Amino acid sequence: MSQAQTEQQSGTYQAHFRVWRGDADAGELADFTVEVHEGEVVLDIVHRLQATQAPDLAVRWNCKAGKCGSCSAEINGRPRLMCMTRMSVFERTETLTITPLRAFPVVRDLVTDVSFNYAKAREIPSFVPPPELAPGEYRMQQEDVGRSQEFRKCIECFLCQDTCHVVRDHEENKAAFAGPRFLMRIAELDMHPLDAAPESGLDRKATAQDEHGLGYCNITKCCTEVCPENIKITDNALIPLKERAADRKYDPLVWLGNKIRRRTE
Ligand code: SF4
Ligand code: SF4
Ligand code: FES
Repeated sequence: MSQAQTEQQSGTYQAHFRVWRGDADAGELADFTVEVHEGEVVLDIVHRLQATQAPDLAVRWNCKAGKCGSCSAEINGRPRLMCMTRMSVFERTETLTITPLRAFPVVRDLVTDVSFNYAKAREIPSFVPPPELAPGEYRMQQEDVGRSQEFRKCIECFLCQDTCHVVRDHEENKAAFAGPRFLMRIAELDMHPLDAAPESGLDRKATAQDEHGLGYCNITKCCTEVCPENIKITDNALIPLKERAADRKYDPLVWLGNKIRRRTE
Protein backbone atom coordinates (compact mmCIF):
# COMPACT_ATOMS: atom_id res chain seq x y z
CA MET A 1 0.00 0.00 0.00
CA SER A 2 1.37 3.45 -0.94
CA GLN A 3 1.93 6.15 1.69
CA ALA A 4 -0.93 8.17 0.17
CA GLN A 5 -3.31 5.20 0.51
CA THR A 6 -2.17 4.59 4.09
CA GLU A 7 -2.75 8.26 4.93
CA GLN A 8 -6.19 8.17 3.29
CA GLN A 9 -7.21 5.25 5.47
CA SER A 10 -5.71 6.43 8.74
CA GLY A 11 -6.97 10.02 8.49
CA THR A 12 -3.42 11.25 9.14
CA TYR A 13 -1.56 13.09 6.41
CA GLN A 14 1.20 15.60 5.80
CA ALA A 15 0.00 19.08 4.78
CA HIS A 16 1.90 21.99 3.35
CA PHE A 17 1.66 25.38 5.05
CA ARG A 18 3.02 28.82 4.37
CA VAL A 19 3.11 30.85 7.57
CA TRP A 20 4.00 34.51 7.80
CA ARG A 21 7.03 35.08 10.04
CA GLY A 22 8.37 38.49 10.94
CA ASP A 23 7.72 41.66 12.89
CA ALA A 24 6.68 45.26 12.32
CA ASP A 25 9.81 45.95 10.24
CA ALA A 26 9.95 42.98 7.87
CA GLY A 27 8.72 39.46 7.29
CA GLU A 28 8.10 36.71 4.78
CA LEU A 29 6.18 33.50 4.27
CA ALA A 30 7.98 30.41 5.55
CA ASP A 31 7.22 26.92 4.22
CA PHE A 32 6.43 24.00 6.53
CA THR A 33 5.13 20.48 6.20
CA VAL A 34 3.12 19.45 9.25
CA GLU A 35 1.26 16.29 10.21
CA VAL A 36 -2.51 16.57 10.36
CA HIS A 37 -4.82 14.20 12.24
CA GLU A 38 -8.47 13.56 11.63
CA GLY A 39 -10.81 16.11 13.21
CA GLU A 40 -8.16 18.77 13.75
CA VAL A 41 -8.53 22.51 13.29
CA VAL A 42 -5.97 24.97 11.95
CA LEU A 43 -4.97 26.02 15.48
CA ASP A 44 -4.01 22.39 16.26
CA ILE A 45 -1.63 22.49 13.32
CA VAL A 46 -0.13 25.80 14.40
CA HIS A 47 0.44 24.32 17.87
CA ARG A 48 2.08 21.22 16.34
CA LEU A 49 4.24 23.50 14.25
CA GLN A 50 5.30 25.33 17.41
CA ALA A 51 5.96 22.06 19.23
CA THR A 52 8.00 20.42 16.51
CA GLN A 53 9.59 22.97 14.17
CA ALA A 54 9.10 26.62 15.14
CA PRO A 55 9.14 26.99 18.94
CA ASP A 56 9.38 30.79 18.68
CA LEU A 57 6.32 31.17 16.45
CA ALA A 58 4.08 33.87 17.99
CA VAL A 59 0.36 33.14 17.99
CA ARG A 60 -2.44 34.43 20.20
CA TRP A 61 -5.15 32.09 21.47
CA ASN A 62 -7.00 31.27 24.68
CA CYS A 63 -10.16 29.20 24.62
CA LYS A 64 -9.87 26.97 21.54
CA ALA A 65 -13.65 27.01 21.54
CA GLY A 66 -14.57 30.00 19.39
CA LYS A 67 -15.46 32.14 22.38
CA CYS A 68 -12.50 34.36 23.32
CA GLY A 69 -11.93 35.91 19.90
CA SER A 70 -8.12 35.71 20.24
CA CYS A 71 -7.03 33.38 17.45
CA SER A 72 -8.10 35.56 14.51
CA ALA A 73 -5.87 35.29 11.46
CA GLU A 74 -6.19 35.07 7.70
CA ILE A 75 -6.25 31.65 6.08
CA ASN A 76 -5.75 31.77 2.33
CA GLY A 77 -6.60 35.47 2.58
CA ARG A 78 -9.91 35.03 4.39
CA PRO A 79 -10.27 36.32 7.98
CA ARG A 80 -11.11 33.33 10.22
CA LEU A 81 -10.81 31.98 13.75
CA MET A 82 -8.05 29.37 13.61
CA CYS A 83 -9.69 27.30 16.33
CA MET A 84 -12.97 27.07 14.45
CA THR A 85 -11.57 26.28 11.02
CA ARG A 86 -11.50 22.55 10.43
CA MET A 87 -8.71 21.17 8.29
CA SER A 88 -11.34 19.03 6.55
CA VAL A 89 -12.72 22.08 4.71
CA PHE A 90 -9.50 22.19 2.66
CA GLU A 91 -8.21 19.72 0.12
CA ARG A 92 -5.42 17.58 1.59
CA THR A 93 -3.13 18.62 -1.25
CA GLU A 94 -3.89 22.32 -0.83
CA THR A 95 -1.22 24.66 0.55
CA LEU A 96 -2.66 26.69 3.42
CA THR A 97 -1.30 30.20 3.76
CA ILE A 98 -1.68 31.63 7.26
CA THR A 99 -1.07 35.35 7.71
CA PRO A 100 -1.78 37.92 10.44
CA LEU A 101 -4.84 40.20 10.25
CA ARG A 102 -4.04 42.65 7.49
CA ALA A 103 -5.86 45.71 8.85
CA PHE A 104 -3.80 45.92 12.05
CA PRO A 105 -0.08 46.42 12.70
CA VAL A 106 1.95 43.26 13.17
CA VAL A 107 3.58 42.68 16.55
CA ARG A 108 5.23 39.41 15.60
CA ASP A 109 4.35 36.48 13.31
CA LEU A 110 0.59 35.89 13.60
CA VAL A 111 0.04 38.38 16.43
CA THR A 112 -1.29 41.83 15.58
CA ASP A 113 -1.82 44.95 17.65
CA VAL A 114 -5.61 45.35 17.80
CA SER A 115 -5.58 48.40 20.06
CA PHE A 116 -7.32 50.43 17.31
CA ASN A 117 -10.46 48.55 18.33
CA TYR A 118 -10.11 49.33 22.03
CA ALA A 119 -9.61 53.01 21.22
CA LYS A 120 -12.81 52.98 19.14
CA ALA A 121 -14.69 51.19 21.93
CA ARG A 122 -13.71 53.92 24.37
CA GLU A 123 -15.07 56.63 22.06
CA ILE A 124 -18.62 55.29 22.24
CA PRO A 125 -20.65 56.60 25.17
CA SER A 126 -21.90 53.73 27.29
CA PHE A 127 -25.49 52.94 28.29
CA VAL A 128 -27.18 55.90 29.97
CA PRO A 129 -29.27 54.60 32.90
CA PRO A 130 -32.84 55.90 33.14
CA PRO A 131 -32.76 58.55 35.92
CA GLU A 132 -36.16 57.62 37.33
CA LEU A 133 -35.16 53.99 38.00
CA ALA A 134 -32.68 52.60 40.50
CA PRO A 135 -30.48 49.63 39.57
CA GLY A 136 -32.60 46.55 40.20
CA GLU A 137 -35.77 48.29 39.05
CA TYR A 138 -35.05 47.93 35.35
CA ARG A 139 -37.75 45.95 33.57
CA MET A 140 -37.80 45.16 29.85
CA GLN A 141 -40.03 43.03 27.68
CA GLN A 142 -38.33 40.30 25.69
CA GLU A 143 -39.79 41.67 22.46
CA ASP A 144 -38.10 45.02 23.19
CA VAL A 145 -34.64 43.53 23.64
CA GLY A 146 -34.96 40.76 21.04
CA ARG A 147 -33.36 42.73 18.23
CA SER A 148 -30.32 43.98 20.08
CA GLN A 149 -29.74 40.68 21.91
CA GLU A 150 -28.22 39.26 18.72
CA PHE A 151 -25.42 41.84 18.89
CA ARG A 152 -24.48 40.74 22.41
CA LYS A 153 -23.15 37.48 20.96
CA CYS A 154 -20.10 39.39 19.68
CA ILE A 155 -16.83 37.80 20.90
CA GLU A 156 -14.71 40.76 19.74
CA CYS A 157 -12.59 38.73 17.39
CA PHE A 158 -12.37 41.81 15.10
CA LEU A 159 -12.63 39.72 11.94
CA CYS A 160 -15.33 42.13 10.75
CA GLN A 161 -13.07 45.10 11.45
CA ASP A 162 -10.26 43.40 9.55
CA THR A 163 -12.30 42.59 6.48
CA CYS A 164 -14.09 45.93 6.08
CA HIS A 165 -12.70 47.58 2.95
CA VAL A 166 -13.10 51.05 4.47
CA VAL A 167 -10.04 50.45 6.65
CA ARG A 168 -8.49 47.23 5.30
CA ASP A 169 -6.29 49.06 2.82
CA HIS A 170 -6.97 52.59 3.96
CA GLU A 171 -5.09 53.48 7.11
CA GLU A 172 -6.14 57.09 6.52
CA ASN A 173 -9.83 56.21 7.17
CA LYS A 174 -9.22 54.75 10.61
CA ALA A 175 -9.48 58.06 12.46
CA ALA A 176 -12.97 58.75 11.12
CA PHE A 177 -14.43 55.23 11.01
CA ALA A 178 -15.32 53.08 14.01
CA GLY A 179 -15.83 49.92 11.92
CA PRO A 180 -18.74 47.47 11.84
CA ARG A 181 -18.25 46.09 15.34
CA PHE A 182 -18.56 49.51 16.97
CA LEU A 183 -21.24 50.91 14.66
CA MET A 184 -23.15 47.79 15.71
CA ARG A 185 -22.54 48.76 19.34
CA ILE A 186 -24.08 52.18 18.67
CA ALA A 187 -27.05 50.49 16.97
CA GLU A 188 -27.45 48.20 19.97
CA LEU A 189 -27.54 51.10 22.41
CA ASP A 190 -29.83 53.10 20.13
CA MET A 191 -32.30 50.17 20.14
CA HIS A 192 -32.01 49.66 23.91
CA PRO A 193 -35.47 50.23 25.43
CA LEU A 194 -34.08 51.82 28.62
CA ASP A 195 -31.18 53.85 27.25
CA ALA A 196 -31.75 57.45 28.36
CA ALA A 197 -29.22 58.97 25.93
CA PRO A 198 -31.85 61.09 24.11
CA GLU A 199 -33.10 62.58 27.41
CA SER A 200 -29.51 63.39 28.36
CA GLY A 201 -29.00 65.25 25.07
CA LEU A 202 -26.97 62.54 23.35
CA ASP A 203 -28.19 61.66 19.86
CA ARG A 204 -26.56 58.30 19.07
CA LYS A 205 -27.72 58.39 15.43
CA ALA A 206 -26.10 61.77 14.91
CA THR A 207 -22.82 60.67 16.52
CA ALA A 208 -22.79 57.49 14.39
CA GLN A 209 -23.06 59.65 11.32
CA ASP A 210 -20.91 62.62 12.33
CA GLU A 211 -18.22 61.08 14.58
CA HIS A 212 -18.01 57.37 13.77
CA GLY A 213 -18.22 57.31 9.97
CA LEU A 214 -21.53 55.51 9.39
CA GLY A 215 -21.64 57.14 5.95
CA TYR A 216 -18.44 55.32 4.90
CA CYS A 217 -20.27 51.99 5.07
CA ASN A 218 -21.74 51.07 1.70
CA ILE A 219 -23.43 47.92 3.03
CA THR A 220 -21.30 45.42 1.12
CA LYS A 221 -21.94 42.84 3.89
CA CYS A 222 -18.32 41.59 3.90
CA CYS A 223 -18.33 42.02 7.69
CA THR A 224 -21.40 39.81 8.02
CA GLU A 225 -19.82 37.11 5.87
CA VAL A 226 -16.82 36.61 8.17
CA CYS A 227 -18.58 36.90 11.55
CA PRO A 228 -18.06 33.58 13.41
CA GLU A 229 -21.15 34.28 15.53
CA ASN A 230 -23.28 34.67 12.39
CA ILE A 231 -24.46 38.07 13.52
CA LYS A 232 -26.30 39.84 10.71
CA ILE A 233 -24.20 42.95 11.24
CA THR A 234 -25.23 44.74 8.06
CA ASP A 235 -28.89 43.77 7.79
CA ASN A 236 -29.81 43.99 11.46
CA ALA A 237 -27.53 46.73 12.82
CA LEU A 238 -25.96 48.93 10.15
CA ILE A 239 -28.83 49.28 7.68
CA PRO A 240 -31.42 50.01 10.41
CA LEU A 241 -29.01 52.54 11.95
CA LYS A 242 -28.56 54.21 8.56
CA GLU A 243 -32.33 54.30 8.10
CA ARG A 244 -32.90 55.87 11.48
CA ALA A 245 -30.10 58.38 10.90
CA ALA A 246 -31.71 59.32 7.56
CA ASP A 247 -35.17 59.56 9.15
CA ARG A 248 -33.71 61.89 11.72
CA LYS A 249 -32.01 64.03 9.06
CA TYR A 250 -35.20 64.41 7.01
CA ASP A 251 -37.57 64.63 9.97
CA PRO A 252 -39.32 68.04 9.47
CA LEU A 253 -39.31 68.72 13.23
CA VAL A 254 -35.57 68.02 13.50
CA TRP A 255 -35.00 70.18 10.39
CA LEU A 256 -37.05 73.04 11.89
CA GLY A 257 -35.27 72.72 15.26
CA ASN A 258 -31.86 72.88 13.57
CA LYS A 259 -32.90 75.89 11.50
CA ILE A 260 -34.17 77.79 14.55
CA ARG A 261 -31.03 76.85 16.50
CA ARG A 262 -28.79 78.11 13.68
CA ARG A 263 -30.69 81.42 13.52
CA THR A 264 -30.39 82.03 17.23
CA GLU A 265 -26.69 81.11 17.42
S1 SF4 B 1 -21.15 46.42 5.26
FE1 SF4 B 1 -20.21 48.37 5.83
S2 SF4 B 1 -19.11 47.95 7.73
FE2 SF4 B 1 -19.57 45.94 6.75
S3 SF4 B 1 -17.75 45.47 5.54
FE3 SF4 B 1 -19.17 46.55 4.18
S4 SF4 B 1 -18.60 48.72 4.31
FE4 SF4 B 1 -17.64 47.67 6.07
S1 SF4 C 1 -19.36 41.25 15.18
FE1 SF4 C 1 -18.73 39.14 14.69
S2 SF4 C 1 -16.87 39.40 13.45
FE2 SF4 C 1 -17.22 41.34 14.46
S3 SF4 C 1 -15.99 41.30 16.33
FE3 SF4 C 1 -18.06 40.56 16.85
S4 SF4 C 1 -18.00 38.35 16.64
FE4 SF4 C 1 -16.19 39.15 15.58
S1 FES D 1 -8.83 30.45 20.78
FE1 FES D 1 -10.61 31.50 21.53
S2 FES D 1 -11.71 31.99 19.72
FE2 FES D 1 -10.07 30.75 19.00
